[in-house]
Amino acid sequence: MPGANSSEQRLRLFFALVPPREVQERLAALGQQLAVETRGRAVPCENLHATLAFLGDVDTRKVRALERLARMAPRLAIDLTLCEIGWFRRAQVAWIAPSSVPVSLRLLQDRVAEALRTAGFALDERPYRPHVTLVRKCKVAPLSREVDPIGWPKSRLALVSSVSVEGGVRYDELFGWSLG
Ligand code: 2AM
Repeated sequence: MPGANSSEQRLRLFFALVPPREVQERLAALGQQLAVETRGRAVPCENLHATLAFLGDVDTRKVRALERLARMAPRLAIDLTLCEIGWFRRAQVAWIAPSSVPVSLRLLQDRVAEALRTAGFALDERPYRPHVTLVRKCKVAPLSREVDPIGWPKSRLALVSSVSVEGGVRYDELFGWSLG
């Protein structure tokens, strides 16, 4: 029907766990080192996060519903220790991941993913692998395998919009709150 979607605007959205600034700074420093090792581009400090659920392009009119849905999620503290370095060869990204995934994070991710699927959002069917991408456009694998643990004791849960800008992406937080 012509014009049926004329008011539709879409945003590229994902739910993220956002670290406190001091944790982002430690991760950014490690990202600089890994960027040299992999001949890639370090993710800017303010962009460092762990994705909880990637939604893709979503009609902006659904943002309120997403907020309601996320507010029902458990708000347990998520205490992470990041120390394992790896990369996704096809995506050309190098990342750091927790040595073990706390029950609180599994619970949060399960609940949010289930609520999103029930509400009709299509999510990645692959098992959830929490990680923080530190470098993009890697040419080779990182040399490092394990690094001194980086403690990430407190997170914010946020709905984030990814906007393409010259030279990369900007992340706009649409709403969020502290866990724990
Ligand atoms: P990544 O860091 O491993 O690339 C914004 O793009 C965030 O959503 C990134 O953290 C990205 O993970 C994640 N994401 C998950 N699935 C994605 C997809 N199919 N396309 C783009 N980003 C995706």
